[in-house]
Amino acid sequence: MFEIIYCSVATRVMDPSDITSILRTSRRHNQRAEITGMLVYYGHSQEFMQLIEGEESAVHRLMDRIGRDARHQSINIVHQGAKAERSFPDWSMGYCELQPSTLASICGLKDVSETKMIDYVGTGKRSVAKRLMDSLHQQMAK
Ligand SMILES: Cc1cc2nc3c(=O)[nH]c(=O)nc-3n(C[C@H](O)[C@H](O)[C@H](O)COP(=O)(O)O)c2cc1C
Repeated sequence: MFEIIYCSVATRVMDPSDITSILRTSRRHNQRAEITGMLVYYGHSQEFMQLIEGEESAVHRLMDRIGRDARHQSINIVHQGAKAERSFPDWSMGYCELQPSTLASICGLKDVSETKMIDYVGTGKRSVAKRLMDSLHQQMAK
């Protein structure tokens, strides 16, 4: 099992129908490719963060395709590596819209008005991206 977490910046503000369209395609394709994961959209700074997990070659193939998508740019892989088991076994692609207050509380920051997700998760400490994903996952499961 292999996973990639990346951050990117939407090329324009995403409205709910844009997100629905991305998720519809993703879920259809990911089911076939046995990919699972979670997509996060942070409207505050128009950023995406996504975790994709599955068989290594399938994950790289998907990442290549996602990387060519004109709906986002500045794609930064913040974590990749092997893992023992899936974190999102039941989600062909989960979705979470991240609010500034949630980012602030997870990061322990007072003011996130200037904070981009990439500033927080792209610090070179790869555990940060995983920790944020885990926290969001736990909050969604409640
Ligand atoms: C932020 C973002 C996340 C995406 N995630 C996935 C995904 O998990 N799986 C997927 O198949 N496509 C995903 N896509 C869509 C792909 O980039 C691509 O448009 C889609 O797979 C359709 O490819 P096709 O037109 O070659 O069939 C994502 C797109 C964006 C902008």
